[in-house]
Amino acid sequence: MSAGWTLIDGIGSLVTNDPEEGEGRLGLIRDAAVVIGDGAVQWVGPSARVPDGAAGTRIDVEGRAVLPGFVDSHSHTVFGGDRAEEFAARMTGAAYGAGGIRTTIAATRAASDEALAANAARLAAEARAQGTTTLEIKTGYGQTVLDESRSLDVAAGVSDEVTLLAAHVAPPEYAGRQDDYVAMVIDAMIPACAPRATWIDVFCEEGAFSEEQSRAVLTAGMAAGLVPRVHGNQLSYGAGVRLAVELGAASVDHVTYTTDADVEALAGGSTVATLLPGADFSTRNKYPDARALLDAGVTVALAADCNPGTSYTTSIPFCIALAVREMYMSPDEAVWAATAGGAAALRRTDVGALRVGMRADLTVLEAPSHLHLAYRPGVPLVSRVFSAGVER
Ligand code: NIG
Ligand code: FE
Repeated sequence: MSAGWTLIDGIGSLVTNDPEEGEGRLGLIRDAAVVIGDGAVQWVGPSARVPDGAAGTRIDVEGRAVLPGFVDSHSHTVFGGDRAEEFAARMTGAAYGAGGIRTTIAATRAASDEALAANAARLAAEARAQGTTTLEIKTGYGQTVLDESRSLDVAAGVSDEVTLLAAHVAPPEYAGRQDDYVAMVIDAMIPACAPRATWIDVFCEEGAFSEEQSRAVLTAGMAAGLVPRVHGNQLSYGAGVRLAVELGAASVDHVTYTTDADVEALAGGSTVATLLPGADFSTRNKYPDARALLDAGVTVALAADCNPGTSYTTSIPFCIALAVREMYMSPDEAVWAATAGGAAALRRTDVGALRVGMRADLTVLEAPSHLHLAYRPGVPLVSRVFSAGVER
């Protein structure tokens, strides 16, 4: 116990994600308290049992809900421009195709480092204000060694979770020469960029990269020390999910078009299925079969997929509401997926739950329970956010 620590008391309902601490998988404790200090969780339990002199400062949240900060394991927030008109055209009947990515590639290449950094910082702040305390960021709108490299630097300026999305879509200068692009990624881009990233990602989809091309990029990334994650099965049935499981990827993301065999493969492997309902919402796609995945025992994460093409939202509460309403996840499952699930997708053991020793990343809701995140869609319920114990 230390005078520099803070007691957060009067918590109406606390999600710990620690089943040993409280009720159910969310480890729910009512009338709870948390002590945070030195950036970490120091004590968790019922208010009635707070140790004497636990902390020098006391914050009374007056019955509000507290939960772990959201772990958003999938974003593309390094980009120039926007695609509002493409969105509007889609809402009146146009179809979404991976080719729209090239519009943002052109705008990103044309943007200065400063403009890219300012946009990424703006979106990180927007996400944080909505309760996100861990945000993965992908490159993918540069698609040259130079532009991916500066995108990596911008991403690293706002996050520790940086992904090299080396093969997002073949850029225009490689039109009709996809294999040449893949060879350039393997021979030049990965060697230049790998030391500054943690993850390697590819868009395995019709109109983007084939199974063989995706496997070649991912294995080259793995040989360079990166851990794979995959964009798969977003727009059609395909090889993405199976490839991710085969390579032991940390996560396969989207997972919208799945066969029984895909669900079985995920259930038998260690790859997390990260669902991105914001993208399905903004592209008028169908939603993933979350129930089949959950009922088969697959670990499911929820992420916002913030990007200018398919999902221009940083709001995890919005994604939780969609997951519950449209994907038949229970509110508890959705909240778990956006916290502990995201942590699993990023292989993090220090975030996504409120257990002694973990990072003091937590959000206070303007509501008595986490259920309100889905129950009150569109209402800004996140009232306070602590990141490593510091209120921001
Ligand atoms: O996750 N699927 C590929 N990448 C992004 C979309 C990128 C874009 O349209 O700009 C996604 O949805
Ligand atoms: Fe994405």
